[in-house]
Amino acid sequence: MATAYDIAVKQAEPEQDSPAPFVVVEKVYKSFDGHRVLNGISLRVDQGETLAVLGRSGTGKSVLLRLIIGLDTPDSGAIRIHGQAIAGLALDRMGEIRKKMGFVFQQAALYDSLSVQENVAFPLEHHRRDMSKSERTDRVRQLLAEVGLDGDIDKMPSDISGGMQKRVGLARALALEPEILLLDEPTAGLDPISSAEIDELILKLQRERRMASVVVTHDLHSARTIAGRLALLNEGDVVIEGTFEDLQQSEIGFVKEFLKQS
Ligand SMILES: Nc1ncnc2c1ncn2[C@@H]1O[C@H](COP(=O)(O)OP(=O)(O)OP(=O)(O)O)[C@@H](O)[C@H]1O
Ligand SMILES: [Mg+2]
Repeated sequence: MATAYDIAVKQAEPEQDSPAPFVVVEKVYKSFDGHRVLNGISLRVDQGETLAVLGRSGTGKSVLLRLIIGLDTPDSGAIRIHGQAIAGLALDRMGEIRKKMGFVFQQAALYDSLSVQENVAFPLEHHRRDMSKSERTDRVRQLLAEVGLDGDIDKMPSDISGGMQKRVGLARALALEPEILLLDEPTAGLDPISSAEIDELILKLQRERRMASVVVTHDLHSARTIAGRLALLNEGDVVIEGTFEDLQQSEIGFVKEFLKQS
């Protein structure tokens, strides 16, 4: 028979089938120059799950992503990656954690002077010195094929469309096989067909890789397509978090208004 001690030990052990969520945002506050941007928000993302973060311009969506990546620190609260709080981590430990994260910034932020394939090779050259040059070249080709750009590897960023640049950004973000993918406005500035193609691509990547993803967007259609759970931010708070149907059924005025305008 299990003793109280056995039960206490069992309770203290992490459950095998419910590991710590990949990303936890815990009561995070962030202000700039006395202006409160994030007002104690909490969110989590599990393996294989995509969370869409929605909200109007200036609500702190990009700030939130920068905090998750560790490019900035919360004033209070915590960001945990695999259960590990990232604030105050030594640089080498943070570097290890960041290697598990792939991110695509709001502007695709490619290196203008590097070709498509050189852009994608960049993280491999810096972090995968164990790979030979030919292994890296193969890997870059494979990544570019995965995003449908195998015919454009020698082009320069200025010679390809915005949608293609986003794809290159995605391929580069996937180079180190991240467990967590963070995308800031992956479809912004694209026409509806290119947006739908990017959504399809994100869905395909999720099926194949089972990453935890956070996608920041103000495109409700895209959010609905790619994410199982949506969080709507306003004035630093999470107004609602749930499925698209939860949002549709909400009686909260701001949610109704947001859905109507989107
Ligand atoms: N480094 C910074 N210094 C000062 N203010 C900042 C900084 N970063 C962000 N802000 C401010 O924080 C607020 C939120 O910015 P953020 O870029 O997160 O908005 P967003 O929700 O991503 O908007 P958009 O949809 O337009 O991309 C804005 O008022 C912005 O000016
Ligand atoms: Mg933004």
